[in-house]
Amino acid sequence: MTASLELTDLHKSFGPAKIIQGVNLSVARGERHAIIGPNGAGKSTLFNLISGRFMPSSGEVRLNGALISGKKPFEINRMGLSRSFQVSNIFTNMTVRENVRCGVLHSMGYGYSFWRNIGNLREVSEKTAHILNEVGLLEKGNTPAALLPYADQRTLEIAITIAGGAEVILLDEPTAGMSHSETDRAVALIEKASKGKTLLIVEHDMGVVFNLADRISVLVYGEIIATGTPEQIRGDARVREAYLGEEAEDAA
Ligand SMILES: Nc1ncnc2c1ncn2[C@@H]1O[C@H](COP(=O)(O)OP(=O)(O)O)[C@@H](O)[C@H]1O
Ligand SMILES: [Mg+2]
Repeated sequence: MTASLELTDLHKSFGPAKIIQGVNLSVARGERHAIIGPNGAGKSTLFNLISGRFMPSSGEVRLNGALISGKKPFEINRMGLSRSFQVSNIFTNMTVRENVRCGVLHSMGYGYSFWRNIGNLREVSEKTAHILNEVGLLEKGNTPAALLPYADQRTLEIAITIAGGAEVILLDEPTAGMSHSETDRAVALIEKASKGKTLLIVEHDMGVVFNLADRISVLVYGEIIATGTPEQIRGDARVREAYLGEEAEDAA
């Protein structure tokens, strides 16, 4: 079966700095795959290469078999890949509802031309309300996104990423800066909303990673040093040495 996402010998340098150094990764349809690794390993850069923000120095990215490296972010998005950012990417001058509505309209092929005459206005409203309800932000629908507490902004970001209807979802540290209870809620949301979809997630919380992921890849200095199931990664001597240490035991 064709992989949902396939990275082949991917390299990225910024000037003389070799940040991604020959990454190979195949993510199956419906798989939840986590990327872990120390700060500065190149995780966000990898996402930027997949989502089209950066051009690879060499190598290929394929989405459902189609070559996407070299395409623009909006083209890749249209082909079914949606990503969130490590730093929040919501429209702060719009309300919570308007933000989600943009994602919904996008998924229905309206692009961002939401000011035009829209035939299925009711369907848009219903879908928007449904998502707001699912993520627990229905009551805050009219709140300007800028005024949301930090954790709610992150949740909104996840909601928008998923509302776009993409079948491949990339989340970059979605629980960063969240408390334990906020993290639990966000993970439940991610689990629910990514059902049947392919998920690639960068996450620093090892408890989240080992619970959520079907497989894990460990990125160190721009190279994947191991890929495997949570059990395999937990038991991998090189991973422990390079990165995990006691964190894996805490998460066990
Ligand atoms: N646009 C860029 N220009 C130059 N260097 C960059 C750029 N983006 C990232 N880097 C460098 O690449 C390295 C990896 O960064 P990043 O991918 O953000 O790591 P991670 O997400 O794993 O913490 C860092 O040393 C960072 O400074
Ligand atoms: Mg990062």
